[in-house]
Amino acid sequence: MRVLVTGAAGFVGARLRRALAAAGHEVVGVDLLGPDGEVPDGVSRVDVRDADALEPLLRGIDTVCHLAAVTSGPESAVFAAHNDLGTAVLLDVMGRAKVRHLVLASSIVVYGEGRYRGMNSGPIYPGLRRRADLDRGMFDHLAPRTGELLIWEPVTEDAPLRPRGFYGASKLAQENYALAWGLANGAAVTALRYHNGYGEGARSGFIGNFLAALDQGRPPLVDEDGGQVRDVVHVDDIVAATVAAVDRRPPGFVPLNIASGHPITMWEVASIMAKARGGPAPVVTGRYLLADARHLAADPERARRTLGFTARIPPIHGLAELAAPAVETTTPQREPAPLHVRAAPPPTAPQHQVHPETRPAAPIARPGSRPDAPVPNVNAPRPEPMIHAGPNTRTPAPQPESAKPEAGAGSPI
Ligand SMILES: NC(=O)c1ccc[n+]([C@@H]2O[C@H](COP(=O)([O-])OP(=O)(O)OC[C@H]3O[C@@H](n4cnc5c(N)ncnc54)[C@H](O)[C@@H]3O)[C@@H](O)[C@H]2O)c1
Repeated sequence: MRVLVTGAAGFVGARLRRALAAAGHEVVGVDLLGPDGEVPDGVSRVDVRDADALEPLLRGIDTVCHLAAVTSGPESAVFAAHNDLGTAVLLDVMGRAKVRHLVLASSIVVYGEGRYRGMNSGPIYPGLRRRADLDRGMFDHLAPRTGELLIWEPVTEDAPLRPRGFYGASKLAQENYALAWGLANGAAVTALRYHNGYGEGARSGFIGNFLAALDQGRPPLVDEDGGQVRDVVHVDDIVAATVAAVDRRPPGFVPLNIASGHPITMWEVASIMAKARGGPAPVVTGRYLLADARHLAADPERARRTLGFTARIPPIHGLAELAAPAVETTTPQREPAPLHVRAAPPPTAPQHQVHPETRPAAPIARPGSRPDAPVPNVNAPRPEPMIHAGPNTRTPAPQPESAKPEAGAGSPI
């Protein structure tokens, strides 16, 4: 098949281009800029908002994989210009060129927050947490009327879509335009809601922040109490799912969660990476962003049924490999700086309200885990979270993340 990939110089796009070619497809790659300001060989420098430039490239194309997007930054207009308008222009040209399949790189951020239940109720899709609760270190969602602690569950594709940041708003806009385009043109749209991607060369999002800290011999800083559940998926698995979407071409508009299927807390992510690097243990900051999701990990079952896709790289291995020091290093490892630590404060919620699955910073078993999924042992002795005892303990540390466009620990997710 002839496949056009937008964003073909990016973190995912560069690998996708190679994987599609290796699978026997004829690939046309376009991008505005590569990471070093140049577009790589074999990729045309095209802005997806430029219909005239796209027109000749789309002739004879069977499937478009639309990955081009701005993924970080503070300004809503930049997201709207590249992601919303760029998608709309591309879709118009695709319609005229009679392209009949779009694979859209969407994101888990379209959900905004995860899915929960009470002990006897659910599903519940809560709104923002109360600032007063966050200020006293109660990071979990509480039922508004009873104060009952809510228990997280994996999100399925039919959950409400309520993104909380500009990036997420633009990813949802892309889905909405794609849905309308598919209906108007009788075309298929596969919207792949990627989770937090990681792999060699990724420097964004919370995994990128942890790596940057470890590179400098500093402890990774984990916000809130570290117990936030996420799913992180290796870029090779993201690419495999995308190639499967091209090959399978499911009819209609089909949103699919693309995840590892092994939910993991941020504390665990940071700990795995720090241990693999031989660096200092992570430090829990207690900082928060009001818009951040507490627990957001999605159910990958529909992608398994629709695409035959199951992620192959469990986070525990992929993250360790990513963080492990390079074998041929000439720079001696820096001694980790001594840390002044104190034990974490006791939980602010009465113990009887704390469900084991939501205990702060504990490995959290995923409700409804597949029997073959390795379930973290919630009874295992857990590392004591460490909190800065320096001047930042009382005054919240400056939050560089506040400049980030998206809830969910630093996007792109
Ligand atoms: N990597 C992740 O963890 C992740 C998670 C969820 C969703 N996604 C989505 O997957 C896609 C690829 O992500 P990535 O991590 O490779 O991002 P990336 O930033 O590495 O690549 C995006 C590419 O899009 C290009 N681009 C931006 N605006 C453009 C325009 N107007 N015209 C042409 N090209 C333009 C950029 O130059 C860049 O090379 C994005 O749509 C992103 O929203 C990624």
